[in-house]
Amino acid sequence: MKITYHGHSVVMMEDKDFKAIIDPFLTGNGLCNITVDDINELSHIFITHGHGDHIGDTVALARKTGALVIANHEISAYLASKGVEKIHAMHLGGRTTFDFGVVKMTNAIHGSGITDDGKMIEGGNPGGFIIEVNNNKIYHAGDTGLTYDMKLLEDEHIDLAFLPIGGNFTMDVNDAVKAVKFIKPKAVTPIHYKTFPIVNADPEEFKKKVKDSEVIVIDFNESIEME
Ligand code: NI
Ligand code: MN
Repeated sequence: MKITYHGHSVVMMEDKDFKAIIDPFLTGNGLCNITVDDINELSHIFITHGHGDHIGDTVALARKTGALVIANHEISAYLASKGVEKIHAMHLGGRTTFDFGVVKMTNAIHGSGITDDGKMIEGGNPGGFIIEVNNNKIYHAGDTGLTYDMKLLEDEHIDLAFLPIGGNFTMDVNDAVKAVKFIKPKAVTPIHYKTFPIVNADPEEFKKKVKDSEVIVIDFNESIEME
C-alpha cells in the first residue's frame, strides 16, 4: 500500500482499487501541493470530525469522483444536505467490514462543530479511524488531546499510527510521545503541525523522544510504501 502525506491531517492510501483520502483539507492548506483538480479517482473519503481543516474539500471531491464518504452520523447528515449521495455513517466504537477491509471509529477528545455560512452546525463527536486493508492496520487519530483510552488501542496491534503533535488544538510533542507508549504501534507518523504558526511543532523532536516505536516522518507531499 502506498501512503502519501499532504500536510496537516491529509493522508492518502492507495492499494489496487482502494484509493482513499482521510481529512481532505486541500484548499487553504499551504503545505499541500494538490487541488481537487488533480484528483480524478477516489474510492473512499474518511472524515474524522467536522472542523473545516478536516472536512475540507470533501463535498467537491465526493461530487467529482463518486467516492463513498465514511463519517459519523451528524457529519453524514450534513454532507447529505450538501448533495453528497454515497455516504456510510458510522459512530464511535463501531467496527464495520467493507469490501476493501475493516474500519473502526475511535474516540477523540476534541470538538466537531461544522462552520457553514457563518453558522455553527452540530457535527457529533470527533473521532479517529482504524483502517485495515490487506493486513496493514492504520490508525489516524484525527484531532485529539491525550487520553488514556488510547491504551485500549494497544490490543489492535497497529502497524502505522498518525498522531497530531502540533499542540494548541491537539496533543503536543510530549503528549504524543505518551500516546505512542499507550498505543504501541509498530511505526508512527506525526501530523497536524506547521500548517499554521500556532501548530508549529518539530517532528524531529518527536522522533528523538519516541523510544519504542519506529518514527517515520513523511515529508509533505511525499509517499512511503507499506508491504
Ligand atoms: Ni479540529
Ligand atoms: Mn484540526
